[in-house]
Amino acid sequence: MIKSIIGGLHLFSGNSQQTLATADYLKQNVDGNIYPCHCTNLAAKFALHAQLSVHEVGVGLTLEW
Ligand SMILES: [Fe+2]
Repeated sequence: MIKSIIGGLHLFSGNSQQTLATADYLKQNVDGNIYPCHCTNLAAKFALHAQLSVHEVGVGLTLEW
């Protein structure tokens, strides 16, 4: 199981097959938070957030484990 992910997911739609399949995969394999950033538009973030714990990413963000 993946703890969390951070990065650009290259998703540009909230209802594309790519976004929905990615959300399903992440839901099954990530047991933590998702930090989508570059190349992930707002609609895709909303779609992911419907199933996962999605958090905003910005300059200065720090994560502690
Ligand atoms: Fe990118």
